[in-house]
Amino acid sequence: MKFYVVNGSPRKNRNTAQLLTKSLEGINDTIKVELPDEKIKVKFFNLYKLKYTGCRSCFACKRINGKHYGHCNIKDDLKPILKGLESADGVVLGSPIYLSDVTGQMRSFYERFIFPYLVYDREASSLASNMLPVGCIYTMNLTKQQYDESEVPMVLDLFENGIERIYGKPYSLKVFDTYQFKDYSKYKNEIFNPEHKIKRREEHFPIDLQNAYDLGRSLALDAMERKLNCNI
Ligand SMILES: Cc1cc2nc3c(=O)[nH]c(=O)nc-3n(C[C@H](O)[C@H](O)[C@H](O)COP(=O)(O)O)c2cc1C
Repeated sequence: MKFYVVNGSPRKNRNTAQLLTKSLEGINDTIKVELPDEKIKVKFFNLYKLKYTGCRSCFACKRINGKHYGHCNIKDDLKPILKGLESADGVVLGSPIYLSDVTGQMRSFYERFIFPYLVYDREASSLASNMLPVGCIYTMNLTKQQYDESEVPMVLDLFENGIERIYGKPYSLKVFDTYQFKDYSKYKNEIFNPEHKIKRREEHFPIDLQNAYDLGRSLALDAMERKLNCNI
């Protein structure tokens, strides 16, 4: 089975990346236990290392009888990844929240991951031949309470609605109050308490990592079930 992980943070080893790595561990462990003979292929992509754009509005994916109907035809670093996703068994997307939304790179990826499969019809049909389970992991400075009182839940609901329309309801994990700077004393900051951030990192981040692992487990079990149903 083949699983993809997509890191929408520019930081290769920080909060989002660590959580994604844990989700991958959850996927791996689950498949190894449930299907010991199964070969597992995993690919971890850092979006900020790739050269690509969002949708360019060429509409090759919507052209009637067109060669690229239902597929994105932009030739850049995302093309092979989107192609790979068409036969993958699952994908976990991770993004920090930047100015109340996912990062720009994640948003551009998302346009290409969703729009080619979306049909302009009254039924809002999906052209995705591969209904792969999708996981979403978000990290942010906001506390849970600040998040609940903010506009971010609405923004992330919209993000996930797009995924649901094409692939089915995604697994979702929100990670709050993350540790942002390596050394808080070096940066202008009057709103975050460094002691609190260290405590949160030590006491709560391990729970977040476990939740990411569990998301990976659920996604793997779902992927196995979908594969089984496909083979019946
Ligand atoms: C440009 C920028 C904008 C940010 N905007 C927000 C925001 O609107 N809300 C929030 O809660 N955190 C915000 N953050 C904090 C990050 O979401 C948070 O530190 C995240 O966990 C970073 O993920 P990473 O460690 O994987 O890079 C912002 C960070 C940056 C660099």
